[in-house]
Amino acid sequence: VGAELVCLDTVDSTNNEVKRRAAGEVPAGLAVVAARQTGGRGRRGRSFVSPPGGLYLSALLQPDCPLEQVSALTAWSAVAVCDAIQALCGVRPGIKWPNDVILEGRKVCGILTELDLEGETAALRYVVVGIGVNLTQGAEDFGPEVAPVAISLAQALGRAPRRAEMASALLDALDRLDRDFPGQWEAWLERYRRDCLTIGSQVQVIRGKETRPGRAVTVDDQFALVVEWEDGSREAVSSGEVSVRGL
Ligand code: BTN
Repeated sequence: VGAELVCLDTVDSTNNEVKRRAAGEVPAGLAVVAARQTGGRGRRGRSFVSPPGGLYLSALLQPDCPLEQVSALTAWSAVAVCDAIQALCGVRPGIKWPNDVILEGRKVCGILTELDLEGETAALRYVVVGIGVNLTQGAEDFGPEVAPVAISLAQALGRAPRRAEMASALLDALDRLDRDFPGQWEAWLERYRRDCLTIGSQVQVIRGKETRPGRAVTVDDQFALVVEWEDGSREAVSSGEVSVRGL
């Protein structure tokens, strides 16, 4: 991962840049990093505020696995980001299911995983894992909407690694992920469950217009969240299907 590394000051979105570069032949091992994004994208079609002071990184992966397993990469990536932050900063963040990386109850990193499928066969061409880590931003950089729910490493710890250090630690962690995926499934599932702050907490599960309260019991072996509803019944919900409020 990162065998071909493109470093930019400003780009619309590092995920977009990877996709543009992979439009013809797929550039194996490509990673793109940027110091800011003008059109950063988040999950569920939301935008991702990406001011200077953060590190925006997208890596192209080509996992060898059935298509059903690929969506788990989003959860694995959150564990990889926790590894990178722990290696550099000595603290291990938690994960809000499915893949927000959390310090002090606020989001220090967001991850957007996107697939590209072959037109006719629908075979997987590649996956882009896009990671935005907050390093040195303050409240004024995030803006009034994002500031209450976001945190930078500098805000949480009083210091932050340099962008290049964080990029290098993330590429190392993604390398281990790439080596282990999907063979070391059980081990990463266990690691995910340990890091996941959502397990054991009260949640509001939002599905279309419906919001339903429950308690997150565990994450099943496909990384779906198992929720116990107020009537005692249980259901495994997948990240494509619902979003969750509460940690
Ligand atoms: C989310 O929290 O909703 C996901 C945010 C993902 C942001 C990263 S920053 C690098 C990459 N480029 C993007 O446009 N998005 C991802």
